[in-house]
Amino acid sequence: MTKTPSSNPYLPLAAEVVERIDEAPGIFTLRLRLRDPKARAAYQFQPGQFNMLYLFGIGEVAISIVSDPKDPEIIDHTIRAVGRVTKGLVRLGPGATLGLRGPFGRGWPVAEAKGKGLLMVTGGVGCAPTASAIQYAIQRREDYGPLAIAHGVKRPSELIYTERFRSWESAPQTQVLLAAGHAEPGWQGKVGLVTEVLDDVAPEALQGIAMMCGPEVMLQAVAENLMERGAAIENIYVSMERNMQCALGHCGNCQFGKEFLCKDGPVFPYAKVQKLLSVKGY
Ligand SMILES: Cc1cc2nc3c(=O)[nH]c(=O)nc-3n(C[C@H](O)[C@H](O)[C@H](O)COP(=O)(O)OP(=O)(O)OC[C@H]3O[C@@H](n4cnc5c(N)ncnc54)[C@H](O)[C@@H]3O)c2cc1C
Ligand code: FES
Repeated sequence: MTKTPSSNPYLPLAAEVVERIDEAPGIFTLRLRLRDPKARAAYQFQPGQFNMLYLFGIGEVAISIVSDPKDPEIIDHTIRAVGRVTKGLVRLGPGATLGLRGPFGRGWPVAEAKGKGLLMVTGGVGCAPTASAIQYAIQRREDYGPLAIAHGVKRPSELIYTERFRSWESAPQTQVLLAAGHAEPGWQGKVGLVTEVLDDVAPEALQGIAMMCGPEVMLQAVAENLMERGAAIENIYVSMERNMQCALGHCGNCQFGKEFLCKDGPVFPYAKVQKLLSVKGY
């Protein structure tokens, strides 16, 4: 786990909303900057880690960091407004203050993946946790083999990061493959589940390191599909979500079998979570 810039990891630091970007109905990106210059200088994160964002008077939620670790001064979070806290966060605009604790958790194996192909498979707002790893690989394109980004949405109007997908696609040896469950006029991607686009993934990306996040049924279906295509189980990683409170391995709220998602995850080798994913209610 990366050290947090606060001496007390339970204490939120004040962060200012620098910009809010509306990505799709109910989905927005908050660009945050820590108000304290010392904390700002000390803040560093790894792709795949998350922060706890605190809406004063309402509560805290775990949200992935989606920006480039090369620029930790501005910390981006893409959020879907689903409940109490996130529906409050959607009302914040530039200049507003919220609390931030973090970064927390184990992120993607970007160091171990060096020299290999990369395959990102995501569904819905699940693309957020991989965004930072994609930025990381794009910034260091010569360190990795072919990169394939496969993303599925229910309908095209729910697609976020249109600009990012366009710019990622223009990077060398990079594919962006989109699928929507229901087509709408103008849709140029595939129609169906995200597994539909796996036929088009470059073989070196398919045989490289796979990083996935999204609904758990999707994670299972994609992992099985990749293994049928010859991918090794030890090359498949997933980012998991559970309700979090302390984010420090103390409260037990995020427990998943023997693991605590907040400190042992949220990124896990698929082999470690495969059995639990098929147990209903875990
Ligand atoms: C490690 C980690 C990273 C995360 N990263 C992100 C992220 O980058 N962006 C993001 O938007 N969310 C992310 N989440 C999920 C986010 O923490 C929850 O959406 C949030 O806790 C909801 O809080 P709330 O108070 O707004 O909703 P609550 O009041 O707690 O929930 C309200 C209702 O929404 C439902 N609900 C809660 N979470 C979800 C969900 N994820 N999808 C659909 N329905 C839900 C609940 O079942 C409930 O019915 C992450 C979670 C974890 C554990
Ligand atoms: S959130 Fe408290 S133990 Fe993980």
